[in-house]
Amino acid sequence: MASSLRKIGQKILLSHCKRDYNILQRLLSNDVRKGFVGMVGRTPLIRLNKVSEETGCDIVVKAEFANGGGSVKDRAALFLIQQGIDQGRLKSGGTVVEGTAGNTGIGLAHLCNAMGFKCVIYMPNNQSQEKIDMLRLLGAVVFPVPVVPFDDPDNYNHQARRHAESLDNAVWTNQFDNTANRQAHIETTGPEIWQQTEGKVNAVTFGTGTGGTLAGVGMYMKEMSKDVKVILADPQGSVLYNYFTHGKLERSPGSSITEGIGQGRVTDNLKGAPIDEALCIMDTDAVSMTFRLLKDEGFFVGASSGLNVVAAVQVAKQLGPGHVVASCLCDTGQRYYARLFNRTWLKEKGLFDSVPEECHGFLHS
Ligand SMILES: Cc1ncc(COP(=O)(O)O)c(C=O)c1O
Repeated sequence: MASSLRKIGQKILLSHCKRDYNILQRLLSNDVRKGFVGMVGRTPLIRLNKVSEETGCDIVVKAEFANGGGSVKDRAALFLIQQGIDQGRLKSGGTVVEGTAGNTGIGLAHLCNAMGFKCVIYMPNNQSQEKIDMLRLLGAVVFPVPVVPFDDPDNYNHQARRHAESLDNAVWTNQFDNTANRQAHIETTGPEIWQQTEGKVNAVTFGTGTGGTLAGVGMYMKEMSKDVKVILADPQGSVLYNYFTHGKLERSPGSSITEGIGQGRVTDNLKGAPIDEALCIMDTDAVSMTFRLLKDEGFFVGASSGLNVVAAVQVAKQLGPGHVVASCLCDTGQRYYARLFNRTWLKEKGLFDSVPEECHGFLHS
């Protein structure tokens, strides 16, 4: 049974993948992973038992913390670098420059070491110290810069572009508007979810930073079946919920403690994404779920993973029992240890009461 399903999956994949060169090989082999690049993608799909039992659905999540660099952004990082190489703009010893809230930078920095490039990262200076320390540890040159809107020339993305332009043999990978980002998810995350659920997935839901994950997985799913629902999970304070619900680029109330997700604009990666519905998820719910994932399911992850699972539960309830809803656990909680798992910080943010009582003992002060 399993082997015949696998063969059907192989056929479906071969007929739908634009570049079928090594996806099947990557998905189906238990081979030795070749270096760091081999550690990008092919992550396990986990059924979250407690929330699945509660909803009567299978809520399944890709273990994106299992990528070599520890987050979903490793996939985009690999495709962004590969594009620079393929286009002849990045040659041996060259420099990769990016504006990133952290995780893409960590993926890029690992890959630059493994592939023989230098790495320069511009990031907003409100990001967690763990991520900055990690980037420096990996040898990246990091510029934390003041937080200013995208249309300000000093926005971290524009600073990254100018830096790359000032160097020879350098690329600005431009994760927000370079669609090589979503291509990573069209060619890897989407096919993996389809194959791992044996084509039974009914809905996918993801929070969006660049929009690469949601758009790429969504596009792949609609290619496989128009019936798969593609649902955007937006944190409070982002514009995308209002944009996809009412057509207005207006922020929802508040601002979010989640990192790496939430947007003030429609990026090129999000343009044309086949989004059926948007949900606005409150920090109180995302934080509560992050701790439930730790206590009830056993996973130590960041708040964007909590937000994804809150959305998946909402979607499962909308669809009713018997459906399969897929999302991802984006990264590990270790990256947010100093803040999200700190009693004082949670109190300052008004989020302490969202931590389930049985988890209070897990917090540090
Ligand atoms: C922790 C985390 N979760 C989710 C995302 C969103 O992924 P995407 O940029 O593909 O929308 C990011 C992006 O940086 C992230 O850092």
